[in-house]
Amino acid sequence: MSIIILGIESSCDDTSASILKDGVLLSNVITNQEVHRIYGGVVPELASRAHQQNIIPVVHAALTRAGIDKNELCAIAFTRGPGLMGSLLVGTSFSKGLSAGLNIPMIDVNHLQAHVLAHFIKENIEDNNQPNYPFLCLLVSGGNSQIILVKSYNDMEVVGQTIDDAAGEAFDKCAKVMGLGYPGGPVVDRLAKEGNPTTFKLNKPSIDGYNYSFSGLKTSFLYLIRDELKKDPDFIENNKNDLCASLQFTVVEILMDKLRKASKDLNINEIAVAGGVSANSALRKSFEEHAIKYGWKIHIPPFAFTTDNAAMVAMAGHFKFLDKQFCKMDAAPFSRVVI
Ligand code: KG4
Repeated sequence: MSIIILGIESSCDDTSASILKDGVLLSNVITNQEVHRIYGGVVPELASRAHQQNIIPVVHAALTRAGIDKNELCAIAFTRGPGLMGSLLVGTSFSKGLSAGLNIPMIDVNHLQAHVLAHFIKENIEDNNQPNYPFLCLLVSGGNSQIILVKSYNDMEVVGQTIDDAAGEAFDKCAKVMGLGYPGGPVVDRLAKEGNPTTFKLNKPSIDGYNYSFSGLKTSFLYLIRDELKKDPDFIENNKNDLCASLQFTVVEILMDKLRKASKDLNINEIAVAGGVSANSALRKSFEEHAIKYGWKIHIPPFAFTTDNAAMVAMAGHFKFLDKQFCKMDAAPFSRVVI
């Protein structure tokens, strides 16, 4: 019998539902919440209200696109955490209601593990590009920057992580200083294509092990702008592309320096990248260069699986379904949870 899983993702500001049949993607519907754009960041209260409005139409669309009737579902996998509590509550409560109504099991999923497991989603039946264990996964998003040693789908160890800001936060905060709107990462990526990455020298941290730090870079970027604006009020406008290129270059260097060190020390050449920042074109290019130079076997997700999406939640749910790891009806979301 086929395993058909409905995945539900509502940890932040994307409402998403997906159907996976035996690990093969049938649908992945994502609704972004435009309501936050004017505030320059996600407003938790507004996010939960928007999830409440979106969740039923999104699930309906996922079932329709997949050509699956709700009575064919084997289980519902939902993001239990980490994330915004109000947002998580919408997905969790919806999953409870539907699983009780359909009398099928519920599977709780760790959002960070789901990002890593996105690499196992088969886009079609012939898709055989999944990583082999053990592999290292660089998880880079708005809230996380981690190097994860993935020993199996249910055995992951964080070997390095940021001690302050995440990489996505560094992009977003520096973009905000330049007045580029929110989220700034994709805009920086676009403008950087026209800029010179070596024009401005920005701070790189020197911390031990495989940990990251981005607060020094952020501060050096801020001071550079502050000092230059005193001399030229149009400094940002006149140097936007070079500023973006230099910022992006430095973030990617910081990320790759530690990843290279972890790969060498742990003797693992199978390397994946996940999370929203994995959409960054310079980071992707650097992965490809490392594959050539260091013989890495790299795994870069399709764009649809870089951002928050329910397909990765359904994938994690699929693995847990095989192990019969279901959760109880009293499962409550966690706003903070480690891998
Ligand atoms: O994983 P994700 O979608 O969600 C959260 O962490 O909530 O990651 C979002 C982050 C944001 O900081 C955004 O600016 C960043 O990913 N991002 C990018 C790019 N696309 C998204 N950063 C740099 N370059 C991009 N192309």
